[in-house]
Amino acid sequence: MPEPFYITTPIYYVNARPHLGHAYTTVIADVANRFHRLCGRETYFLTGTDEHGDKVVRAAKEEGLSPLTYVDKISGLFRDLWPELDVEYDYFVRTTDLAHTNVVREVLQRIYDSGDIYFSEYEGAYCFGCERFYTDRELADGKCPDHKTVPEVIKESNYFFKMSKYQDWLIDHIQDNPDFICPERYRNEVLSFLREPLGDLCISRPKTRLKWGVTLPFDDQYVTYVWFDALLNYVSALKYPEGEQFKKFWPAVRHIVAKDILKPHGIYWPIILKAAGIPVYRQLHVHGYWNVDETKMSKTLGNVVDPLELKNIYGSDAFRYFLLREMVFGLDSSFSEKALVQRINSDLANDLGNLFSRSLTMVHKYLKGIVPRREETLQSTLELDLRSYALNAIEQYRKAMENFSFHKALIAVWEFINHINKYIDVMAPWQLAKKKSQRKQLEQALFNILESLRVVAGLLYPAMPQTSRTMLERLGMEPGYQGLDGLATWGKIPPGTKLPKTVTLFPRIDIDKVKAKTRDAPGNGEDVGMQKPLVPIESFQQLDIRVATVLDAEPVPRSKNLLKLKVDVGEERTIVAGIANSYQAEDLLGRQVIVVANLKPVRLMGVLSQGMVLTATSDKDPCKLVTVDNPATPGTPIK
Ligand code: ME8
Ligand code: MG
Repeated sequence: MPEPFYITTPIYYVNARPHLGHAYTTVIADVANRFHRLCGRETYFLTGTDEHGDKVVRAAKEEGLSPLTYVDKISGLFRDLWPELDVEYDYFVRTTDLAHTNVVREVLQRIYDSGDIYFSEYEGAYCFGCERFYTDRELADGKCPDHKTVPEVIKESNYFFKMSKYQDWLIDHIQDNPDFICPERYRNEVLSFLREPLGDLCISRPKTRLKWGVTLPFDDQYVTYVWFDALLNYVSALKYPEGEQFKKFWPAVRHIVAKDILKPHGIYWPIILKAAGIPVYRQLHVHGYWNVDETKMSKTLGNVVDPLELKNIYGSDAFRYFLLREMVFGLDSSFSEKALVQRINSDLANDLGNLFSRSLTMVHKYLKGIVPRREETLQSTLELDLRSYALNAIEQYRKAMENFSFHKALIAVWEFINHINKYIDVMAPWQLAKKKSQRKQLEQALFNILESLRVVAGLLYPAMPQTSRTMLERLGMEPGYQGLDGLATWGKIPPGTKLPKTVTLFPRIDIDKVKAKTRDAPGNGEDVGMQKPLVPIESFQQLDIRVATVLDAEPVPRSKNLLKLKVDVGEERTIVAGIANSYQAEDLLGRQVIVVANLKPVRLMGVLSQGMVLTATSDKDPCKLVTVDNPATPGTPIK
């Protein structure tokens, strides 16, 4: 049996509504959870809300509500948001739950009894936003680095937790366990912090100042510092100490947080666990910030993006895809709606969506929409190549997912998608369909394309559960996810299944239309999808289109439809063109063609293509080269 897998998000403060940052952390937790379930592990996924402390009391006051009414309301907003984003958590913890507060008191009492908590007077600079004291060294120009406010100097008697006693132990633990905090930059940050002497942690607040918290078990004039209370959610939710869940899932836990709360998770939390005699957590995964216009998105700064609004416009899968694909785990990313639409149009509508609908269309056109029977004996080199590509993609995907490199996992899937497209171009089913004698090859090619799409659908399950389900259903597969092992075993789609004619997985989106619709005219029922959007003249002018003369042409080995052309576009270039079904290499020498000269180079069947030859192409006719009606100097721009 593989080891169980337990994943957590931070429990979010209920001092404001959920925003994109919260959505990101919770979505990646969901993706990791689904991935590990796919690998056959028993999983547990925890999220929740952090409901005690000054911040919450202040926010409640501002709304004229009692703390309890207020936390119920905001906690509900978080709880209601997650299903909208297809987040499937196992448990939603609230720090105001009795089951949680009992655990906090129990652990405090245990640490108190062991002598690691003492009473003392303290005067220091206190930031109410962060709910903690700051040392002079930590302040930037005398201000809290997070809230940019001058902390208040306060003097009180309080209870302190002897963190300093555990400093050397923690350094050793981090050094002995290189994966304890990752990515590495955050591990280094914690280690560098630990090079300075660690002060003790003030873990109480006098009730004269704050009543909204967990009363200390050993002094009822005080409540517990909100971080000491909050961190314990990770074990209280498993019904520590006796709960079955705790016994099964602890300490096989992965905590996910952003870098804002690295210190409590990288330092306080392991030390609390150690002092309480609870095994230390397995791994802390730390990600960067979503920024808007170069500044961190945060409720304090008021520049938040509403995830529910984005989901309502673009759909949950597209939104999830964007979050995962756009951010390199560990680094900061910038959010813009434009970037989101670009990803949807290029990766989802174009690459994935077109491949899927194109494939279904071919099965209809050539095989009356019926999934063909597979012939084990007919394996061609190209088929074996496709299948080993699939295995390879799965392996890369698995490694990336295990490392929380979500963007890399998706890149592996998209490289496979591109490869399937190439397989189609090379096999050219429209050619095979022309001769009766090639019927078997045609069936085999289409079968392989469908099986490849099944693999893609399987891999998409963690990131885009709805799309995965739709694709599998359309391919005649039982809904639900396929395990990762055996995903690339060929021959799972039942032969004889009648496929739907075509499916638009993701319509193209015109950003101007979306903006107009959501911002100016809410509620008009017009469809946002369009096949080809209107583009401003500037977009067209970005293309460098030129006349070129063909200097040399030869078929690309192993491909059916590709020719490698050497052309003169004012300079010499190699361009791979999918025209071999309509043109012989030798007939092209000296001909003038039109090329797009500033496309990013791509490798096609091992040959680097530095541009694109324009053709008139449709499913109906053989493709035709576009040309000039009189000879032109090579390199002449087309305007
Ligand atoms: O810190 N970019 O709660 P919180 C990326 N209650 N992620 C972001 C983000 C951004 N701009 N803004 C917020 C707390 N997040 C404590 C946690 S845990 C025992 C107690 C995400 O509501 C990210 O996960 O301030 C970050 O760590 C968390 O929200 C902070 O949420
Ligand atoms: Mg915060």
